[in-house]
Amino acid sequence: MAIFGKDEAKRKQSVFSPEDLQKLPRHVAVIMDGNGRWATKRGMPRSFGHKAGVEALRAIIRHSSDLGIEALTIYAFSTENWTRSVEEVSALMGLLLEYFTRELDELHREHVCIRILGDISGMPKGLEKQQAALYAAMDKTRENTGLKLNIALNYGGQQEIVRAAQALAKKAAAGEIVPDAITREAFAGELYTAGLPEVDFLIRTSGEMRLSNFLLYQCAYAEFYKTDILWPDFDEAAYDEALLTFTRRNRRFGGV
Ligand code: FPP
Repeated sequence: MAIFGKDEAKRKQSVFSPEDLQKLPRHVAVIMDGNGRWATKRGMPRSFGHKAGVEALRAIIRHSSDLGIEALTIYAFSTENWTRSVEEVSALMGLLLEYFTRELDELHREHVCIRILGDISGMPKGLEKQQAALYAAMDKTRENTGLKLNIALNYGGQQEIVRAAQALAKKAAAGEIVPDAITREAFAGELYTAGLPEVDFLIRTSGEMRLSNFLLYQCAYAEFYKTDILWPDFDEAAYDEALLTFTRRNRRFGGV
């Protein structure tokens, strides 16, 4: 089944008015939480929830692309997730490899541009296939002009900020820049998200209300949305409802 559905009938059912469509966020970030609980509720291992989570993700990527959203950033694996059981980490890494093997051609055909946010080179030994698949996905889709799909993997927001500070400090120490050149723009340019718009809308599923070390710098003025729906159940309709909520928010960016 094609992952990108562009049939007219579907578009006509859209819950968005033309005005709403103008107000959609440019950059959506998602903390896909609740896979484990979803599986446990069904008496299944946590990996079953992650597998179902990948299916939910496919639909959200497709819908983001169809709606013309510029950037979608998803939290796939944090620097802290390595502390999970060997079975769970291995299941997640297996899913990752399977995802890129199975979906890359179609994502490329749909002009999706893939960027990995996080330290790919610092992944543990034994994950060379995953590393190669991630680099290959970025290389293949680098010039694509469609949805910018950013996958946070071996990612930590604090680590990202420290890394950017170190990069700028090194440039200053080498005399390449003066300290006053370290502006917000220069700082943003050293983050994994360099060149992307700031996050407009941050969605977290499963009822939790935490940032969990995700996009700490980029979410300065993000509108936050939480839903009790567990990630594998987060479908197009739930996404539409979230996006509709965003279109009704009054963003003030610290003004009145
Ligand atoms: C959080 O749920 C989810 C994760 C830590 C992993 C999310 C990953 C995927 C959906 C699939 C992998 C991604 C790609 C790109 C193939 P949780 O396990 O913390 O759930 P819980 O809070 O109910 O325990």
